Amino acid sequence: MNIIITGGTKGIGRAIAEKFAQQGFNLALCARNANDLKACKKALAAAYPNIQVLTKKTDMSKPKQVSAFAAYIKKHWKQIDILVNNAGVFLPGEILKEKEGTLESQINTNLYSAYHLSRAIAPMMVRRKSGYIFNMCSIASKIAYPNGGSYSISKFALYGFSKVLREELKDKGVRVSAILPGATWSASWAGVDLPKKRLMQANDIAEAIWGAWQMSTSAVMEEIILRPQLGDL
Ligand SMILES: NC(=O)c1ccc[n+]([C@@H]2O[C@H](COP(=O)([O-])OP(=O)(O)OC[C@H]3O[C@@H](n4cnc5c(N)ncnc54)[C@H](OP(=O)(O)O)[C@@H]3O)[C@@H](O)[C@H]2O)c1
Repeated sequence: MNIIITGGTKGIGRAIAEKFAQQGFNLALCARNANDLKACKKALAAAYPNIQVLTKKTDMSKPKQVSAFAAYIKKHWKQIDILVNNAGVFLPGEILKEKEGTLESQINTNLYSAYHLSRAIAPMMVRRKSGYIFNMCSIASKIAYPNGGSYSISKFALYGFSKVLREELKDKGVRVSAILPGATWSASWAGVDLPKKRLMQANDIAEAIWGAWQMSTSAVMEEIILRPQLGDL
């Protein structure tokens, strides 16, 4: 079984990679930082010697690099079981105060990344009438909150993309889920003065994805909302 995870070197993406590696999946991961990718590949290959780990330095905000990542995967794999559109950036701000270009950069990374990679990969799933695409949305896809700014706009858009894709692929044997986590411990929260237990752990999101994947192919969790037990921050 083969899974693609964008932004697989850290945080939620890394936790998903670990979870599926434990279950014997081959991994294809990308990120912008080549050193992180190299270290990640080394650690995963050592911990799970029986799986294949493909990595490619890719900036998912750049459509040409997305195409190159897809081509690299297709060169190695004839079948793709799961695509997790996870790569994303969080730039806090307010619409009236944020720097010019903040919306564009987050739309590029948080929306167009998933749009272009799904267009490149989903046809392989459609041909086999089998596959699963997860889109890493956010609670910010559902509610506006202080300092959410363009991030929230981009995550509303990704949630819309996920719904449209779900509709288009429902009769083609391909399942699509929108994952909407609240605050989850990761690099994005570095320096925040809160006990670790106040936030969800990246592994909690990975477990939810694993659970959705394991259901029979006659069912799909169209959206999964996850929040810290004590609620949003
Ligand atoms: N943590 C939360 O509280 C939370 C809540 C809701 C939703 N989410 C969403 O969950 C996803 C993962 O977040 P996280 O908190 O785990 O973030 P993280 O710890 O910062 O990790 C982000 C991952 O994505 C990669 N990445 C970022 N920009 C990229 C780009 N342009 N091209 C390719 N890879 C890129 C990063 O590697 P490089 O930096 O090397 O590129 C890294 O591997 C995001 O979509 C985020 O919006 C997070």
